[in-house]
Amino acid sequence: MKYSLTLAMVIAAASTGSVFADSHASPDQAAIIEQALAGGDPEAGEAVFRKCKSCHEVGPDATSKVGPPLNGVVGAFLGQVDDFRYSNTMEEMGEAGTAWTVENMDIYLTKPRDFVNGTRMSFAGLRDEEDRANVIAYLASVGTETDD
Ligand code: HEC
Repeated sequence: MKYSLTLAMVIAAASTGSVFADSHASPDQAAIIEQALAGGDPEAGEAVFRKCKSCHEVGPDATSKVGPPLNGVVGAFLGQVDDFRYSNTMEEMGEAGTAWTVENMDIYLTKPRDFVNGTRMSFAGLRDEEDRANVIAYLASVGTETDD
């Protein structure tokens, strides 16, 4: 029966590891996520994330829009979503081992071009330090769930 086979596959997929797409985590990801969550309020960050939603999705069904999906991005290397076409600079920085630490993301979200020269993200930036800390905490709270 095709239907029950499909359902069994869905259940099997849901019970193995992360529910979201792989995030190419840096070795320090757990510590970086912890720091992000300690530095901001994820709930307040969810409201800030409205400013990002025209280009970015998060959650189990997130796909690339103008920007890449952001599940598990905190503590990941830059530019690691496989089917997204990044700027050369972002891709090269990621390949060279630059990760989204809290500090790096804070600089990027303040003024994207100050951190990634030639970035394709045309976003003016978040001027409010608390908004940045909160949205980073929010991103740290999505896509890190594992089913263990
Ligand atoms: C106008 C569209 C747009 C908006 C608005 C936008 N972004 Fe982006 N974002 C992009 C694009 C395009 C990229 C890819 C940049 C590159 O390739 O250089 C990106 C990349 C990123 C990355 C790096 C992803 C990775 O895989 O390494 C992060 C983190 C990010 N954005 C966070 C945010 C946050 C947080 C906001 C809201 C405060 C935001 N962005 C608003 C378009 C946008």
